[in-house]
Amino acid sequence: MKILVAAGPTREWIDPVRFLSNASSGRMGFACAREARRRGHRVVLVAGPTSEPPPPGTVRVETTRQMLSALRRRFGWCDALIMTAAPADFAPAARARAKIKKTGRPAALRLVPTPDILAALARRKGRRLIVGFALESHALVRRARAKMAAKRMDLVAANAPQAAGARCATVTLLTPDGGRETLRGATKERIARRILDWIGARK
Ligand code: CTP
Repeated sequence: MKILVAAGPTREWIDPVRFLSNASSGRMGFACAREARRRGHRVVLVAGPTSEPPPPGTVRVETTRQMLSALRRRFGWCDALIMTAAPADFAPAARARAKIKKTGRPAALRLVPTPDILAALARRKGRRLIVGFALESHALVRRARAKMAAKRMDLVAANAPQAAGARCATVTLLTPDGGRETLRGATKERIARRILDWIGARK
C-alpha cells in the first residue's frame, strides 16, 4: 500500500524570534512511518519542526498551511493517511517584521484560526483510509467519536494531553462501527504496530 504519514507540530511565527507551537515530538508519526516501511509499504512522511531528527527522505514543513499543501499534493497518491501531526490551530493575525519590544505592560496577541488539515483532505477522501488522533483533556471517548465523524476518519487514536512529546501513552482506538480497544502505557512503537495491523486488515 501507499501510506502518507504526517508528524510533529507546526510553527506560526509572531515576529522574527517567536512562534506559537506545541509539545509534539514527532515520535508517533516516525514510529508509524518506520513500521509501515518495515512491512513493505511505500511511505511518504511529512513532518513539521520536530525535536527528534526525522528519518531520511522526510518532507519538511513549518506552518500549518505548508503542511496542508504538502499533504494535499500527495493525498491523491496514497491509499491511507495516518495523521499524527499536531498542527497549530491558531496563527497570529499578522507576523511582525521587527522583534516586538517589551514595554512592561500587558500585551495582547490577535489570533486567527489556521486550516483544519484533516477536514480539508477528508472532502476528497474517496476510498482512502484515514487514521487520525484526538487529543482531549475531558470526555475523551465522546469527543474523539465526534471528531472521527466530523473528519471522516476510519480509525481514531484518542489520548490525553500528556501523550504529546512522551515516550509512552495510553490510547483508546475507536472505529465508526463502535469498536474500542485501549492500549495502556504503550510505547509509540507498539501503538504504531496496532495501527498498521488495523490498516493491513482493512485493505
Ligand atoms: N488536525 C488537523 N488540522 C488541524 C488540527 C488538527 O488535521 N489544524 C488533525 C490532527 O492531526 C488529529 C485530528 O485532527 O489527527 C484531531 O486533532 P486534535 O488536536 O485532537 O483536535 P482539533 O481537531 O484540533 O480540535 P480541538 O483543538 O478543538 O480539540
